[in-house]
Amino acid sequence: MKAAIIYTSITGNTEVLAEQIYEVMVAEDISVDLITVDEFDYNTLADYDFLAVGTYTWDNGEIPLEMEELFTAFETQDVKHIMTGVFGTGDSFYPYYCGAVDLFRDMLYVQTDLAVTLKVELMPQQEDLSRAKQFSRRLVRPLVTV
Ligand SMILES: Cc1cc2nc3c(=O)[nH]c(=O)nc-3n(C[C@H](O)[C@H](O)[C@H](O)COP(=O)(O)O)c2cc1C
Repeated sequence: MKAAIIYTSITGNTEVLAEQIYEVMVAEDISVDLITVDEFDYNTLADYDFLAVGTYTWDNGEIPLEMEELFTAFETQDVKHIMTGVFGTGDSFYPYYCGAVDLFRDMLYVQTDLAVTLKVELMPQQEDLSRAKQFSRRLVRPLVTV
C-alpha cells in the first residue's frame, strides 16, 4: 500500500491543512508521505494506491502554476486505480471560492477513483481538525477493517 499527500502552499494555510491530514493518518497507523509538489517525481504517480492533493486557489479560481504539471500527469497517465481526495484553502471573498479544488475534483472524478473533497477558509482552525479526520477516513476507507 502506497499513499502520499502532495500539496502546494505559498502563505502556509494549505500546508497547515496538509499537516493536519498527515497527522490524522499517522495517528491511524497509515503509512503516508507528505510531499510538496515541487519535490514530487511524476514517474512514480501510477505507483500510488492513495493520493491526497492539496492546493490553494489563485487568480480568479485558477490552479496555481506549480500544480499544472501534476494536473496534466493525472490526465495523461494510467491512474484509474488510484483512490484520490482533493483538499484546499481559499478565501470566500473571491467569486470562485476554492476554484482550484473544484477543477481538480472534476478531473480526478474522471481520471481516478475520487473519494472525498475538503475546502477550508484561509488558515485551518482547531475545529477543522474533525473535517481533516473525516477527509482522511473517507480516503483510506478501503484499508479500514471492521
Ligand atoms: C492574488 C490572489 C488571488 C486569489 N484568488 C482566489 C480565488 O480566486 N479563490 C479563492 O478561493 N481564493 C483566492 N485567493 C486566496 C488564497 O487561495 C488563500 O489565501 C489560500 O488560503 C492561500 O493558501 P496558502 O496559504 O496555502 O498559500 C487568492 C489570493 C491571492 C493573493
